[in-house]
Amino acid sequence: MKTQESGMDRLVITGGKALQGTISIGGSKNACLPIIAAALLCPETLLLKNIPRLSDVSSMVQLLLHLGCSVKTDKKNIYLQTDTLATEDAPYDLVRKMRASVVVLGPLLGRFGKARISLPGGCAIGARPIDLHLKGLKLLGAEITLEQGYVSAVVPNGRLIGADIDLDFPSVGATQNLMMAAVLAEGVTRIRQSAREPEIAQLADCLNAMGADVRGAGEAIIEIHGKSRLHGAEYSIEADRIQGGSYAMMVAATGGQAFLRGMKLEYLGQAQGVLASAGVEMQQEDGGISVQASAINPIDIVTAPYPGFPTDLQAQLMALLCLAEGRSSITEKIFENRFMHVPELQRMGADIQLMGDTAIINTTPVTDRPRLTGAEVMATDLRASFSLIMLGLVAEGTTTVQRLYHLDRGYENLTEKLCTLGADVVRKSHDAS
Ligand code: EPZ
Repeated sequence: MKTQESGMDRLVITGGKALQGTISIGGSKNACLPIIAAALLCPETLLLKNIPRLSDVSSMVQLLLHLGCSVKTDKKNIYLQTDTLATEDAPYDLVRKMRASVVVLGPLLGRFGKARISLPGGCAIGARPIDLHLKGLKLLGAEITLEQGYVSAVVPNGRLIGADIDLDFPSVGATQNLMMAAVLAEGVTRIRQSAREPEIAQLADCLNAMGADVRGAGEAIIEIHGKSRLHGAEYSIEADRIQGGSYAMMVAATGGQAFLRGMKLEYLGQAQGVLASAGVEMQQEDGGISVQASAINPIDIVTAPYPGFPTDLQAQLMALLCLAEGRSSITEKIFENRFMHVPELQRMGADIQLMGDTAIINTTPVTDRPRLTGAEVMATDLRASFSLIMLGLVAEGTTTVQRLYHLDRGYENLTEKLCTLGADVVRKSHDAS
């Protein structure tokens, strides 16, 4: 009988096998979180399909239930309906579990004219401020005060007013919050230097299915013509591009080949070319992408907002480049502390040097380089955890990755998928021998 999985479980990996086979790439975590929040915008039912079973998604659903939304689930479908608001208060103990909860702010203000949400606070990879969210909401007419760690916001005359908003940085969350605030505002809103990630266009597609009028999502300027009300809709969550990119690099790292069902190459932006130059050969086929590996080549990259190379694939690329013949560099420009996987990879023998926001990989000639050997390592954040497993799959001997709750946030059925691809991995409970 399958034991109840716990976040304190560990993954025991024996390296050395090339991954082969077919796995499905589930619905996108970063697309469905704001889309679930969009259910606050209308009194009718929003039916969402292909919802991934992830702890972050459960946290967002818990928050919506707390706010007064009724929720029914049926396998991978979820029915959300917000007739009336039970409370406009999103408490610390719910928001701290999943900082993307902050995107309930826009829909609450847009439809109900009030919201009180705990400041999300930072996380392992950075301070994660929300100043751009608040600046834009004020331009739309919200009055905002910060007190006792909470953002209290109210719309004085009951309805937000469309405005021109220039984002200082193409923030994904700020773009999503402002889009959802603006769809019910009076008049036209333009968001300039908006984020262009595929998740933005997917949120816009869902909002437009609900009767909104969002134009230009995916471009640098999004124009939103406010409506008086939205209606229910059905929307199917697209495959998770970060999950797909992660597994593509994992298969390549082991020298294997696989078919990633549901994945679309177009969602990788420039990452497709970057991974190809690193030796990850991907082809779009009917219903998914095929992946195989030639030799892993050294490259130099800088993470950037979409369509640049995504910060969410940085840790995974670093693990891959540890296997390249020559010297590579990765510069992380999006988050200030997203190299926590480095000391853990170094414990496995990876040759990495940190110089400020840049990691240099393989500074010594391949003949002098230490062998990659399995070790006890600690997951520190969602994507870093995946990079530890990648190296564990190619290192000699056994690697044990602790604190799998990080992985459970963003990788659905990870152990099952790895076993399907022929990996020698076992998920063990914390106290099991
Ligand atoms: C989203 O986070 C994703 N999360 C992140 O994925 C992803 O790394 C990030 O976008 C960048 O692509 C979800 O979609 C749930 P940002 P978000 O606002 O919206 C600064 C994962 O692994 N900033 O684009 O929080 C911020 O500090 C997660 O799935 C401000 O300064 O990202 C950061 O340095 C990790 N002020 C940069 O901008 C603000 O008001 C990018 O943040 C907002 C952001």
